[in-house]
Amino acid sequence: MNTYKLILKRRTIRKFSQKEIKKSDILSCINTARLAPSSANLQPLEYILITKNLDRVFECTNWAGYLKNGAPKTGERPTAYILIISNTKISTNAKYDVGLAIENILLTALEKGIASCIIGSLNRDKLIKYLNIPKDYMIELAIALGYPKQKSVEDKFKKDIKYWLDKKGILHVPKRRLKDMIHKEIF
Ligand SMILES: Cc1cc2nc3c(=O)[nH]c(=O)nc-3n(C[C@H](O)[C@H](O)[C@H](O)COP(=O)(O)O)c2cc1C
Repeated sequence: MNTYKLILKRRTIRKFSQKEIKKSDILSCINTARLAPSSANLQPLEYILITKNLDRVFECTNWAGYLKNGAPKTGERPTAYILIISNTKISTNAKYDVGLAIENILLTALEKGIASCIIGSLNRDKLIKYLNIPKDYMIELAIALGYPKQKSVEDKFKKDIKYWLDKKGILHVPKRRLKDMIHKEIF
């Protein structure tokens, strides 16, 4: 699939089948993150690949703030996580780098049929302890990965940006229209 179609297809998924992901596929995701643009080419980001003790990490994650039952149940949880950390000795403002690295991860994963959810709402203190993260490092975001067990579609934005689940369990994600987001030549 070409990049444009892949980007149109990508939606956040929060329910996953329990089929294991090949380590080499996750490493490909991290490799494309490694090659993402980096401010001043400082490259402050590092990645913790987690495929074991998944319950411990799941405990530290919060899901789908707009939904009542948006979190994956047992048997639907991610089968891997990539935790993005930044070395604060190199940079204390790695936010743009993080965004660019993440999109590479999401698209590389999707091309391999692997779905994802970015997790910003994390219990960072617990993760620092569980994963033995040194004090010079900051936890940026986590990416939950797994083969999809949910469908998610783009909805035309009307009044509300909140995503919602229909009766069939399909997730609907309102997106603003292109014409409402473009200013041609001047504002
Ligand atoms: C910086 C960032 C943090 C996010 N944190 C969470 C989170 O903690 N939990 C969650 O369920 N989804 C999280 N998401 C996923 C968003 O809810 C999702 O991207 C948004 O609803 C749009 O859906 P889409 O990815 O399908 O376009 C996060 C996304 C971003 C970009």
